[in-house]
Amino acid sequence: MKALVTGATSGIGKKIAEKLSERGWELILTGRNEKILTEMKNCLGNTEIITADFSERKDVYRVYEFCKDRDIDMLVNNAGFGVFGKFAENDLDKELEMMEVNITAVHILMKLFLRDFIKRDSGIILNVASVAGFMHGPLMSGYYASKNYVLRLSMAVHEELRREKSNVSITVLCPGPVNTCFNSRAGVNFSAKPISADQVAEYALKKAFAGSLLAVPGLTTKLCAFSQRFAPYKLLSSVVYNVQHAKKSSDEKKK
Ligand SMILES: NC(=O)c1ccc[n+]([C@@H]2O[C@H](COP(=O)([O-])OP(=O)(O)OC[C@H]3O[C@@H](n4cnc5c(N)ncnc54)[C@H](OP(=O)(O)O)[C@@H]3O)[C@@H](O)[C@H]2O)c1
Repeated sequence: MKALVTGATSGIGKKIAEKLSERGWELILTGRNEKILTEMKNCLGNTEIITADFSERKDVYRVYEFCKDRDIDMLVNNAGFGVFGKFAENDLDKELEMMEVNITAVHILMKLFLRDFIKRDSGIILNVASVAGFMHGPLMSGYYASKNYVLRLSMAVHEELRREKSNVSITVLCPGPVNTCFNSRAGVNFSAKPISADQVAEYALKKAFAGSLLAVPGLTTKLCAFSQRFAPYKLLSSVVYNVQHAKKSSDEKKK
């Protein structure tokens, strides 16, 4: 069995790659950091690597071209990052880059691999969204919107496949805070206790192998994902604003 893992150089993607390797899977790993990819290839064995920057659309197609004749059984669409701050003030180019990585790359790879998987009526797609996908996110508006896209796209395509009685499965991972490089890359601190990338990866794979649509790790995150349905949108806006604001405040207190 062979998997393509995007964003495999750190955090959740790295842990998923390690866990698949422990289970005997062959891997194709991608990310921008060639040094880490090479270390992972040497450490895991049975691994091919391809460096790619998913803010460049041609790199996304290049990764697919590299993989398409290699009999991939599982796509882990994990690469992503967040931009923190007020929408009016955030750098537009950085946000467009985020949309390329979090939305466009996920969309392209999902479609191209899905077509291959449908042809042979097997394959697993694991898309990494976030609990942010269930709500809107003041102070991280574009990021939350990008994860809404991934979640809703996954849910819709899951239903199309279910109707066709397809053996291809789609799982969408929706974690809350996870202890990875994500927050430091976004220039903020955690405002809630994170869970480990190891826990999240183990849970995600369990759900993906079971063919479950939703993978929401941890009780608190499950409660958030569920209860937001009943919260008036103004209350939700206020709660999320405060959660996001606390990330920045704690960061600034440390300066
Ligand atoms: N950590 C959290 O609290 C949390 C919560 C919910 C959802 N998530 C989601 O989980 C996924 C993984 O994030 P993480 O928490 O593991 O963060 P991370 O440790 O920062 O890892 C992000 C990964 O994405 C890759 N990546 C970023 N920009 C890229 C680009 N332009 N082209 C190609 N690859 C790129 C990085 O690889 P290179 O740097 O090598 O390019 C890295 O391997 C993301 O989609 C994130 O939105 C995270």
